[in-house]
Amino acid sequence: MPATCVVGLQWGDEAKGKITDLLGDGFEYVVRYNGGANAGHTIVWGDRTFKLSLLPTGVLKPHVTSVIGNGLVVNPVRFIEEVDQLTKAGVSVGKNLVLSDHAHVIFPYHMEEERLAEAESGDGKIGTTGRGIGPCYQDKVGRRHAIRVGELLNAEHLRLRLRQIVPIKNRMLKAMHDSAKQFDADTLAEEYLGYAKHLAPHVGDTVQLLHTALKQNKNMLFEAAQGSLLDVDHGTYPYVTSSSSLPSGIWAGSGVPSRNVGRIIGVVKAYTTRVGGGPFPTELNNDTGERIRKIGREYGTVTGRPRRVGWFDAVAVRYTAALAGADEISVMLLDVLSGLPEVKLCTHYECDGQRVDHFPSDAHALERCTPVYETLAGWNENLTGIRTYAELPAAARNYVERIRELVELPIFVVSVGPDRAQTIPVGN
Ligand code: GDP
Ligand code: IMO
Ligand code: MG
Repeated sequence: MPATCVVGLQWGDEAKGKITDLLGDGFEYVVRYNGGANAGHTIVWGDRTFKLSLLPTGVLKPHVTSVIGNGLVVNPVRFIEEVDQLTKAGVSVGKNLVLSDHAHVIFPYHMEEERLAEAESGDGKIGTTGRGIGPCYQDKVGRRHAIRVGELLNAEHLRLRLRQIVPIKNRMLKAMHDSAKQFDADTLAEEYLGYAKHLAPHVGDTVQLLHTALKQNKNMLFEAAQGSLLDVDHGTYPYVTSSSSLPSGIWAGSGVPSRNVGRIIGVVKAYTTRVGGGPFPTELNNDTGERIRKIGREYGTVTGRPRRVGWFDAVAVRYTAALAGADEISVMLLDVLSGLPEVKLCTHYECDGQRVDHFPSDAHALERCTPVYETLAGWNENLTGIRTYAELPAAARNYVERIRELVELPIFVVSVGPDRAQTIPVGN
């Protein structure tokens, strides 16, 4: 049984959580392979809303085994908080949540390093989520100061490691800024040993688990975090996250070879949003942008920051769909565009007087590009109660069809509201 991947094709928050949840009923494994608690995936079931940052959306379903793969960076505090929140909401999380012993651990000094680095970057700051993601991945790649989840389970070893690492971190932080917080190795060790008690029942060898599942022909869903334009290699570097959010991250971040992934569903908003810094050619700094932000409730799930808003950028999505190897796309939040007299799609860019059809992912090159738009008629009808494609107003269908043509991929579903029911299958 080939696995499926749900991946965002813009700058994150494309409503991957909704699609993963919709598909999740048919899967026995739901696997996160990248990032950490910088993600914020929203799932709405009637009057119940769940926001998951670190845990895979599969945890909402008892029949699903949810896997936090080796490619993640894990803050144990967030892990415990999320499990507690779910338990309070009546969702029992037990052996069906498995955390890789090879995932890396986020410590408070990672958050402090990120805070100082962002503060000293002024206008050039990345606008990160402040969750310690980048510094923890730096330590992983640097090897000397990293601690994996499995190491939390050996008390003596953890104390020793932190006594080696923390003085170096303290010196480094002090060099970054005089006001830097300082940490005590033994206090941190005892704190994290306390967390380890909560994590221990979930910790395991997830590579072996997934390989066994593959042999047993189990149905597997990979849930990407962030968006493809935030991918560390192919995104708008340096305004990206520190992991591979594209499906290329699956192999490294879970141990499942890419040949086992048979279906890749790209998720896009009917417009574009971005949180944090970096170039955004189709950004709308006007009343239309403000209106979309308000109606789409475009405020970050993790940080509450207002999201930057703009028109749909087909140049960017053609690029990420190709990188992701997407087989189809889902067009989300179409309802938000109702009431606009006209809607625009960016078909290509102009840069230094030249037509540009391919996305320049280098942030500095992208900054010099101006979008060229095709303008389509808008629609006034409220779409949130519509359940079939044929019932959509002709102008809305026309808009979706044009996205399909520009991205050159079939459309899986169109979404007209946060609830599972507000989803329209599209026969292509
Ligand atoms: P993710 O990070 O990709 O899972 O997306 P987020 O959860 O951060 O952001 C998507 C937001 O849009 C959430 O608040 C969803 O509940 C909401 N949402 C999902 N689909 C729709 C839709 O079709 N219409 C509207 N209006 N909201 C939607
Ligand atoms: P989901 O999974 C939107 C952005 C941050 C910042 C940049 C780097 O909900 O789509 P980081 O903390 O990762 O070092 O920040 O990446 N970012 C996201 N934007 N959705 C996300 O996740 C994001 N995760 C990180 O705003 O610009
Ligand atoms: Mg999100």
